Amino acid sequence: MSKSVTYEDRLRGFDWSIAERELEFREGEPLNIGWHCSDRICRQGKGDKPALLWEDHRGAEKRFTFDDVRQLSNTVAAFLQRLGVRPGERVCLFMDKIPELYIGFLGVLKMGGIVQPLFSAFGEDALLTRLENAQTTAIFTQRKHALKVRKILDKLPSLKHVVIVDAEPGKLQQREVAFDLERETRVDQFAVHATLRETPSVLHYTSGTTGMPKGAQHVHYSIVGQYLTSKWVLDLRDDDIYWCTADPGWVTGTSYGIIGPWSLGITQCVLDAGYSSERWYAFIQKHRVTVWYSAPTAIRLLMRDGTDVARRHDLSSLRHLASVGEPLNAEAVIWSEEAFGMPFHDTFWQTETGCIVITNFPGMKVKPGSMGRPFPGIEATVLDPRTYEPCASAGRVGLIALRPGWPSMIRAYWNNQTVYDSKFRNGWYLCGDRASIDQEGYFWFVGRDDDVINTGGHLVGPFEIESALLEHPAVAESAAVAKPDPVNMEVVKAFVALKPGHRGDDDLELEIMNFIRKKLSPLAMPQEIEFVDSLPKTRSGKIMRRVLRAREFNEPVGDLSTLMND
Ligand code: WT7
Repeated sequence: MSKSVTYEDRLRGFDWSIAERELEFREGEPLNIGWHCSDRICRQGKGDKPALLWEDHRGAEKRFTFDDVRQLSNTVAAFLQRLGVRPGERVCLFMDKIPELYIGFLGVLKMGGIVQPLFSAFGEDALLTRLENAQTTAIFTQRKHALKVRKILDKLPSLKHVVIVDAEPGKLQQREVAFDLERETRVDQFAVHATLRETPSVLHYTSGTTGMPKGAQHVHYSIVGQYLTSKWVLDLRDDDIYWCTADPGWVTGTSYGIIGPWSLGITQCVLDAGYSSERWYAFIQKHRVTVWYSAPTAIRLLMRDGTDVARRHDLSSLRHLASVGEPLNAEAVIWSEEAFGMPFHDTFWQTETGCIVITNFPGMKVKPGSMGRPFPGIEATVLDPRTYEPCASAGRVGLIALRPGWPSMIRAYWNNQTVYDSKFRNGWYLCGDRASIDQEGYFWFVGRDDDVINTGGHLVGPFEIESALLEHPAVAESAAVAKPDPVNMEVVKAFVALKPGHRGDDDLELEIMNFIRKKLSPLAMPQEIEFVDSLPKTRSGKIMRRVLRAREFNEPVGDLSTLMND
């Protein structure tokens, strides 16, 4: 948004059809994210414009123009068709942040498949749960991750094809097939499957308090929300060099790491390497990054390394900064003014919302610590937790709620209508978060309204961790809760009661930690395990994580009337 366009201007007469028109979408006609993010951009004469500037931890570099992305995504789509994968089937992408991930994403969509991106650090249990639930037909992976797939293959009869993108000749095992994106004969013309606005597109697994992760199911029409928020909130303009630090295993990495920027024909860069402030600043300097979308945990890490590191680099290309995933503390906003001469703009949204819903816009007054105001077309409020009616007075803390119906809202949880339905009250969709709204309509985040743990902007579900803990031979029962952390906001802490004959010492603690890291992921790994004799339970036998959590946060425990006295 140029400084002269105000938030109020955007609100006036707002209609999502603004984005439909710009995307040249007409009701009833086909809409395909894969086509819109590549072929359409080439048709606009931007075929030679760089779409992806990629670099890895060894400094290897690759560049792809929009025409490369168009042809290579056609190549992926044609390959899947040859394998016999049919429209509507789920195709998982289980890879590091390599070009095949970004291009493959569009390729799956072009052949009408539902793309299921999964974080490559997931261990075999985390992978199995999600592939089983989605009844996934094919998975793209790299050699280094294939072992995890091989281990669970027997339990996945519907997984027909394991596509290895860097296969060694002659080393393929059952159901495996090699696909080398850059060596394949390029497909210039591909008949993109005629998906419609409500055709399922992306399936992202996300955690809740109870049960295993749910598949949040998006549709092709989500592009309308992702396009307009990328334009107005991230302020993407034609000559920008954009960097989204998120991994496409999570929704930020697809909504704003693929669909948003490419639907606008924007050049984006990707760094497939671990965090280091030195490396990140060098990357910004080298590519002359102008718009940068990151997360509070990353900003806190940069803060910890100090402004000096920032000053040693030429970061003058930066024009706009935004952040998502967890509360952006006021200190981080103020620090970014000091280090980069501009604030990080907080944006609030979720896997389920598909696009930014509450946010600070460029040119809008930033109140450090506030998430900003609803995006035009989004009706947001906070509800009284007893009545589910909007809180009457400013400053009252309630449940963040959105009026359903915006373009990129999920349409379902995969095969789980019950949980989907449970998210609605009085015609509002409940985000599962608490906040207050001030006199000027700014939202102030307070916390989650459930037991989900937010570590470094990533949600992990206690149930999934507890289930994995139970697989360890020494564990009788457990509870996973959030523990405050200065950098990651929260980390996982597990309370564990052992089976008779086991001793809770440092060795066992380490062993259990590693067990979870391997089975689930480094994020889900408890940073601390406290061995206890028993866990607080309700009379009906449900473990009261709230009691344990209150202890960690030094908070009052609240109503304990249902606590069983043992
Ligand atoms: C949950 C959604 C959407 C991108 C990444 C996470 C928390 C997200 C903020 C923010 C405070 C935030 C909420 C939300 N969250 N953004 N700006 N301030 N909290 O997607 O994994 O679905 O997580 O992340 O708790 O409900 P997700």
